[in-house]
Amino acid sequence: MKQALNSCPTIPPTLRELYAPVRDELDAVEDLLRAELVSDYPFVDLLAKHGFRLGGKRLRPALVLLSAGAAGSVRPEHVKLAASTELIHTATLIHDDVLDEAELRRHLDTVNARWDNEASVLLGDYLFSRSICLAASVDGGYACRAIGEAARVMCEGELRQVQNRGNYSLSEADYLDIIAGKTGALLACCCRLGAHYAGASDEQGTAMVGYGEQLGIAFQIADDLLDLTGNESTAGKSLGTDLLKQKATLPLIRLLAAAAEDEREALLAVLSNSRESRRDTLESWFARYGALEYARETARRLTRRALSQLAVFPPSPARASLEGLCEFVVSRRQ
Ligand code: IPE
Ligand code: IPE
Ligand code: MG
Ligand code: MG
Repeated sequence: MKQALNSCPTIPPTLRELYAPVRDELDAVEDLLRAELVSDYPFVDLLAKHGFRLGGKRLRPALVLLSAGAAGSVRPEHVKLAASTELIHTATLIHDDVLDEAELRRHLDTVNARWDNEASVLLGDYLFSRSICLAASVDGGYACRAIGEAARVMCEGELRQVQNRGNYSLSEADYLDIIAGKTGALLACCCRLGAHYAGASDEQGTAMVGYGEQLGIAFQIADDLLDLTGNESTAGKSLGTDLLKQKATLPLIRLLAAAAEDEREALLAVLSNSRESRRDTLESWFARYGALEYARETARRLTRRALSQLAVFPPSPARASLEGLCEFVVSRRQ
């Protein structure tokens, strides 16, 4: 059954308002995704549709379309590319849920929880392939290269994160660099594609890429805060997995840097011993050192930088939405 994005229950009202300038095009993206996610083989068909059943926030398609609107106008190519970026994103989530042994995604069982890791690995690859075919249908290679490059940088970010599991000496600079890769690169790519296919100047293209990357880093810092403090039924995904998987994220990096030597040792003992209770034990430590506020302020600083990039675009409803997204990404609960 056709469901307009505007009535999709997983898109928060603030976001629906911000998406208003490209509402019809986002609906066209949904139609295209539905048309793409069809297989003659019932099991493949079932799996392919699973990740899209309730839908996520559709931030990446919205960025392609809004950056196109801010730089010029939205064209049919943008709709295809918006769907292509959402396919890549969903593929990475399905793989990420294997790494994190997560059980909940987009308010549903993860593919690994409902089926198994083998199905997840293959389904992720299947969505990657579909994404590339869709991007290749656009033109002589710019989009495919941009998407392929973003996927490479994302994988490098995820691999560096795996390599640093249990490394509680990870520096803030290295953390920021890793998340710029794993999350910033795809958001930057969406903005690059939006601007490029709208005929943006080089200066505008560079500004839009900077906007997307800084927004993406802020988005991931907020996501890492949600993992520590959020609510699973609102977020619709498993939380707390960063601590379980020994990922050092910004609040923890800040806390460990600010704590006295003996406190640091006590903290490292907490991190290596208890499991489910870690989140509660750490809460008072975070409060004592203002570590959550520090992370939130870092995200805000990045969104201020993202915002300043938009000055090269003339005022428009699409530009206003890109500005509004800066506030959304740092205050979001889902
Ligand atoms: C989750 O992305 C993965 C991160 C980069 C933090 P989203 O929060 O955009 O996920 P959906 O698409 O809304 O499900
Ligand atoms: C993964 O980061 C982001 C990707 C690029 C796949 P997270 O592990 O924090 O994402 P969530 O919290 O599971 O959505
Ligand atoms: Mg995860
Ligand atoms: Mg997370």
